[in-house]
Amino acid sequence: MTLAPTWLSGEAWRREDSAVERLSDPRFFIELAQRAEAAHLDFVFRPDSLGAPPAGMARRPGGSGSDPTLLMTLLAGHTSRIGLLTTASTTFFPPYILARALMTLHWLSGGRAGWNIVTSLDGQRNFGLEQMPSAEERYARAAEAVQVIRALWDSCPTGAAPIDRAAGLDGSATLPAAIAHKGTYYQVEGPLAALGHPAPLPLFQAGASHVGRGFAAAIADGTFAACPDKDAALALRADLRRRAVARGRAADAVRVMPGLSLFLAASETEARELYRETHAGTSRAQKLAKLTSMIGLDLSGWNGARRITASDLPPLDAALRSRTHAELLYRKVARSEPSVDELLDAPEVLGSAHWQVIGTPGQAVDAIRDWADAGALDGLILFPGGSVGCLDLALSTIPAALAEDRRLREDYESECFAGHLGLG
Ligand SMILES: Cc1cc2nc3c(=O)[nH]c(=O)nc-3n(C[C@H](O)[C@H](O)[C@H](O)COP(=O)(O)O)c2cc1C
Repeated sequence: MTLAPTWLSGEAWRREDSAVERLSDPRFFIELAQRAEAAHLDFVFRPDSLGAPPAGMARRPGGSGSDPTLLMTLLAGHTSRIGLLTTASTTFFPPYILARALMTLHWLSGGRAGWNIVTSLDGQRNFGLEQMPSAEERYARAAEAVQVIRALWDSCPTGAAPIDRAAGLDGSATLPAAIAHKGTYYQVEGPLAALGHPAPLPLFQAGASHVGRGFAAAIADGTFAACPDKDAALALRADLRRRAVARGRAADAVRVMPGLSLFLAASETEARELYRETHAGTSRAQKLAKLTSMIGLDLSGWNGARRITASDLPPLDAALRSRTHAELLYRKVARSEPSVDELLDAPEVLGSAHWQVIGTPGQAVDAIRDWADAGALDGLILFPGGSVGCLDLALSTIPAALAEDRRLREDYESECFAGHLGLG
């Protein structure tokens, strides 16, 4: 489940019961993580941004941009089994800092840290850059950073071997050793001067362009996927399985975990109303501006009923903010030739192109069963939207229903995050 405050989305923070003030209250996140643990979820997850808040968030009180790894460290002390999946950017953090922070979280949590590796969508002006590096360069850096970080993790003692006081450390296999990395982007001597942990630290990745998929297939244990419909998830999962095998890994090495955006209520009518209310304050001009920022297309002069076809779209530019999201938008147009108004209200524009269920918890569970039975996912990340009530409903109903189906455990069988994912 996400710990990003998605239930404050759009206008939802204005609701009496939104608990928006609790964003700065650590106990709120502790309670959430404990509830997710009581439901035996694999992990809690926190995305991150090092830039200005996205347009939607800029129109509500701040407080959602705190450092996710530090937040997870707090949660480590208040939970005992659930995985703690943090997000950190290889574009802006040096690998030594990342290796140390992540391994510290892993050690402090007893092997429960995970890392969602992102290459960032923006934030460059906070790091002295005018432009974001190209996606190719960001992924090349990410690949080298992961290589360095893994070497650093291996360079420090795991603590698994018994300490021999009499023999001392000379000649010990667990003595820290330099890594002497000299690459295209990084020069790192090592070793990492931080205590290691014997449990593997799961690596996730977000970004599904051609290059992003290659990166996932090479290193990731899981991918945080934007999949607006089942076909998109099926195609992504099949492609990642093929790519993993081509790299000599098992077909199921990269677990596909789509984000599931939920607007839940006791009846479908109420859920639709919740969704409508949440987005009521997003003006047409804002939606048009989002479309322009995504693919460089200005539709402000178009009639809302006019249909858009693939030939109306500009060529896919290499310098796009997120190629993944742009490609999903092009796919939507090619498949359904929506009207301008339909496109502006689609999850590809109004949201982050995530799978969406607006309805009752039962409908959400049916949708999850349907995708799982079709082989469209290996797991999912719950994104409750619109109200704290929706968050409560999601947590109190969906895990229990999936446990009844034996799609989710009834109790933890492993102490560490890797174990929950079935990693060796
Ligand atoms: C579903 C999804 C979630 C993402 N989450 C984050 C995030 O939390 N923080 C971040 O800095 N970048 C995030 N990104 C950006 C990616 O790491 C990547 O920089 C971007 O998608 C460009 O890669 P692409 O060309 O493969 O799309 C996300 C991307 C996707 C598709």
